[in-house]
Order: sequence, then C-alpha cells, then structure tokens
Amino acid sequence: MVGLGYWGPNLVRNIAGSPATELVALCDQDEGRLASVGASYPSARTTTDSAAVLAADDVDAVCIATPVSTHHDLVRAALESGKHVLVEKPFVTSVEEAEQLVALARDRGLVLMLDHVFLYSPAVRRLATAVQDGELGDLQYIDSVRINLGLVQHDVNVLWDLAAHDLSIIDHLVGRLPRSVSAFGEAHQGHDLVDVAYLHLDYGDGLIASVHVNWLSPVKIRHFLVGGSRRSALYDELDPSERLKIYDRGVDSTPDPESRRRILVSYRSGDVVAPALEPVEPLRAMVEHFADSVARGAAPLSDGEQGLRVVRILAAADRSLAAGGAAVTLDAGGGA
Ligand SMILES: NC(=O)c1ccc[n+]([C@@H]2O[C@H](COP(=O)([O-])OP(=O)(O)OC[C@H]3O[C@@H](n4cnc5c(N)ncnc54)[C@H](O)[C@@H]3O)[C@@H](O)[C@H]2O)c1
Repeated sequence: MVGLGYWGPNLVRNIAGSPATELVALCDQDEGRLASVGASYPSARTTTDSAAVLAADDVDAVCIATPVSTHHDLVRAALESGKHVLVEKPFVTSVEEAEQLVALARDRGLVLMLDHVFLYSPAVRRLATAVQDGELGDLQYIDSVRINLGLVQHDVNVLWDLAAHDLSIIDHLVGRLPRSVSAFGEAHQGHDLVDVAYLHLDYGDGLIASVHVNWLSPVKIRHFLVGGSRRSALYDELDPSERLKIYDRGVDSTPDPESRRRILVSYRSGDVVAPALEPVEPLRAMVEHFADSVARGAAPLSDGEQGLRVVRILAAADRSLAAGGAAVTLDAGGGA
C-alpha cells in the first residue's frame, strides 16, 4: 500500500481485514504518517521508498493512494515490475497518460483497477441491475448532485476530484461515452482551480446527464437521480435506511386519436419501492473485487478502460471550462 494520508488508511483497514488479501508492506514518503499508520499493523513492514515495495518479490499487487500527480509514474513502475495495480481516482491527469497505462497493463496481462468505490455500493449494484433488466425502461436523463464543504484539493479542480465518482457510475450504467460535454465553473479560492462546477453530457440519442459538484456548499448532498421511460430511481448514499428508491411515477403520453397534432399527457403516480440491500461496506467489496479479479485474471468493473473513459470526459470538461462552457465533442474513437 503506497500513500497513507487521508484516504490510504481506509484501504489499509480493508486490505488487512479481508480474508481475500494479506497486507505485506506499507509505504509513505512521510515518516510521521508511516509510523502512525504502521503502528496499527505490526505484521506489515514499512518503508519510505516506493521502489522497494514495487520491486518486492512477496508483493503481488500494489494499491496507490497518493496525489494524482504521482499516479502515472507509480502505476507505470508497478506494472513494469509485474504487479497488479489498484489506483485511486482520479486515475491520471491526461488522456495520453491513461492510454499508456491501459496499454501497458494489457501488454503485461496485469489487472489495472480504479477505486471508483461507489460502483461497489449495494445500491449502485441494484441500480445497475434495474437499468440492465429494463426495469427503468429507456434512460432519459441522469441528474447528480455531489456537494459539501469539501477537502479543497491543490492539484485538481472539483470536477476531477468529485465528478470522477459520478462519471464512473454514469459510465457503468450507460456503457458508452457521451457525444459531447460542456462545463461551467468558477474558482473562488484565489488560485485557478475551479471549486463549483456544472457538467452536462449529451449522449446524442435523447439521453442527457448533468453533474453538479461543489466544494463550498454548507450542506452535504449526494443525490443521483436516474429517469427512465418506465420508472425512475434515486440513489442517495447518505440515506442509510433507503439508499435506493425506485419510483413508478412519471409522465405517460399518447397521440390524441381526435387530432394528429396533439399529444395526450397523463401523470402516473404509482408505488415507491426501496429494495432491500445487503449491509456491505463499498470499500470492502471493492478490495475483494480487486483480489477476485487478480485471482481469476478477469477485468474488474472499474478497470483501466473505464478510468480512461472518465479521464476523456474530464479532459473534455476542462477544455469546455476554458472555452466558457462551449460544447466539446468526443469523437467516435473516444478522443476529445
Ligand atoms: N475513493 C475515494 O472516495 C477517495 C476519497 C479521498 C481521496 N481519494 C483519492 O486518494 C488519493 C490521495 O488523496 P488523499 O486525500 O489521501 O491525499 P493526502 O495528501 O492526504 O495523502 C497522500 C499521501 O501520499 C504520500 N505520498 C505522496 N507521494 C508519495 C510517493 N511518491 N511515495 C510514497 N508516498 C507518497 C504523502 O506523503 C501523503 O501521506 C487522491 O487520488 C484522492 O483523489 C479517493
């Protein structure tokens, strides 16, 4: 495990606590962090030198929870040493870096996985089933709000920090890139990192999505609303008793038999169902999915390819921000 700052210890707890994984070594270049986290895991050796971990014979897989600017070099070194890699979001800082790492993992036959942790929430697993089984019908819109007084990052803007989560969920549900992306945002902290942003995705076939992310909001909201032609769903990770609700409510419209130019609209006000969900910690499920993918040599749900698609959207969003919100097209090959 490389990187023991704010987030790394959460991964360490799950790696050490799962029967699927064995915690071998802890690494942080900050000796204070290393000593304080290492004290709770005496069986794991500690080092400030990431190269020593990446080259170690008794290490099969490396988890990386360092700042994003370091991800590319650390992931590349790990893959070149033959290690499977689990890396934090956001994956890397450019499409080119993401492409290189995805190709390297593919060439070496190694698992490269992103900690897109919310994909492993039982609520999102159930939501994905509702989409795949047609329970929601054709997807019409997705509306996600992820706002709170955030840990303002110093190396990425709020879209790269927070919208990476929403985009990974949207990618998982929709399974393809949007046709175009536009983003508005503003920086209020005296440097040029946008801290409030609105991102719009157009899939070109009637499906549109909106993601609002904000580090300055005094209230914490995590609403992920999916509108379908048959039903709609609301996922709220902050509502422990009803994380997912499926609404049989919506608008039905039929052509008026009296007049070909009119549409008859009726409102459907049916049941709201909150499916029973397993009480599983998403991070534990994510770590075990990583171990299982390594054991089976299978691609994980949040594989490097998904990381690359998310980075493509974020890079296009940055270009749109710089162009005052102009739509940026993602071409068929996936480039922005
Ligand atoms: N999945 C999630 O929900 C989630 C939540 C928070 C943060 N994160 C991600 O986790 C990553 C780390 O974020 P954080 O908030 O923990 O950052 P942080 O600054 O608190 O911690 C980073 C740690 O990495 C260490 N480090 C930096 N470079 C290193 C190197 N080359 N070798 C060894 N150690 C090194 C630092 O000393 C520090 O202790 C980021 O990519 C962030 O986006 C993910």
